[in-house]
Amino acid sequence: MNQTAQELLKKLEQKTARIGVVGLGYVGMPLALEFAKAGFHVIGYDVDSRRIAEVNAGRSYIGDIKDAELAEQVNAGRLRASLPDDSIGTCDTISICVPTPLRKSKDPDMRYIVSATDEIAKRARKGQLIVLESTTYPGTTTEVVMPRIEAKGLKAGEDFFIAFSPERVDPGNPTFHTRNTPKVVGGYSDACRILSKALYSHAVDRVVIVSSPAAAEMVKLLENTFRSVNIGLVNEMAIMCRKLDCDVWEVIEAASTKPFGYMTFWPGPGLGGHCIPIDPHYLSWKLKTLNYNARFIEMAGEINSHMPDYVVELVGDALNDAGKSVKNARILILGVAYKKNVDDCRESPAIDVIELLRKRGATVSYTDPFVPHLHHEPVTMDGVAYDAATVAAADCVVVVTDHSAFDPEILTRHAKIVVDTRNMMKGRKAAGRVVRL
Ligand SMILES: NC(=O)c1ccc[n+]([C@@H]2O[C@H](COP(=O)([O-])OP(=O)(O)OC[C@H]3O[C@@H](n4cnc5c(N)ncnc54)[C@H](O)[C@@H]3O)[C@@H](O)[C@H]2O)c1
Repeated sequence: MNQTAQELLKKLEQKTARIGVVGLGYVGMPLALEFAKAGFHVIGYDVDSRRIAEVNAGRSYIGDIKDAELAEQVNAGRLRASLPDDSIGTCDTISICVPTPLRKSKDPDMRYIVSATDEIAKRARKGQLIVLESTTYPGTTTEVVMPRIEAKGLKAGEDFFIAFSPERVDPGNPTFHTRNTPKVVGGYSDACRILSKALYSHAVDRVVIVSSPAAAEMVKLLENTFRSVNIGLVNEMAIMCRKLDCDVWEVIEAASTKPFGYMTFWPGPGLGGHCIPIDPHYLSWKLKTLNYNARFIEMAGEINSHMPDYVVELVGDALNDAGKSVKNARILILGVAYKKNVDDCRESPAIDVIELLRKRGATVSYTDPFVPHLHHEPVTMDGVAYDAATVAAADCVVVVTDHSAFDPEILTRHAKIVVDTRNMMKGRKAAGRVVRL
């Protein structure tokens, strides 16, 4: 390691390094907090001034972070938030945690990574470690981020250090959080790897080193593609089981007793969240540029994105059996967040289900204790209470998200029809009709 790397390593070991985190969302905020808890001086950067004000006031807008733990670090002067400004130049390490959505065409939307990198490049100096954490296609770190910093006359691996380290945060998970989830790091050079390990060892219990940024980028895409493909498989199993008059939940539960060579996945109303519906497309896009068609990804994407239509078909059939139509039916959606016990509605299949039902003329309402107001293009509406009267007033209740707060007994007693995509009504003798996925 050269002198520049050795100096940074010393600062990391002595915790005198100043840490920067760009993007204070579900990923960046817990990371910034963990570095502050470890005793570092941390600056979190965001372009959203409301978020900056909240952080600096010690108020958390991330479900898994309590106000008190955030306020403790802010009040101790270890953590503050700011718009991207010249203080970026004072940071010794910078972790980039900005969004990586897809364009409508399902191509990667790199504008957040590019703008964050440009802000950093403007203030780049010798001796900084820059780590990209946003999920992206293999090659991004060295093809998009690195050249923009090198354009400032600095050489990667010598003057500045660069790595990719995928985030594995699982919002709402009571067991695994930033510190106890192993973190993979792929550095551009030996010095980049050593420095990245020295940095992240302060925030996570186990750092796993891989040989390059591209390998680390690929690790994340394998993890999320694995989930997407397996969820696609069980979703198709659900469709096949219905045709065969089998109970897919029973089948999966029994298969899950196999102690080796099997991993349990459950079907559902479609993929949601910022990762699983999106990340595999980053990989397939990259492979298309190399004239290769990523077939598993495409197939799983097709099956998973069809699930909201399938759910609406089940609703239509159930209403039809009761002599009713979707048109003018009052339909209550139970849960609009993309998974249980979180408030995140990004890519939630509930949005598609609501839209599809509305297009067919239904009057749709929703209830979700985590989401009092739903503002997700093209749906904007307020939630209603989850109680006996609301459930009884609906012609059909569609369970999209099985938050723990939902008491199934209310459905058991008062629902006319339940279309249950989460097996919430398992083993219940309901007064009305229950259609399970
Ligand atoms: N949410 C998850 O569960 C999760 C898990 C693993 C990986 N990831 C990945 O991590 C990345 C971040 O995801 P997230 O869920 O934290 O997103 P988020 O939308 O919650 O947060 C991103 C933040 O970045 C800010 N931002 C956007 N452009 C910026 C810029 N140029 N400079 C500074 N701040 C900027 C936004 O205002 C926002 O506050 C994505 O690539 C995502 O795929 C997310």
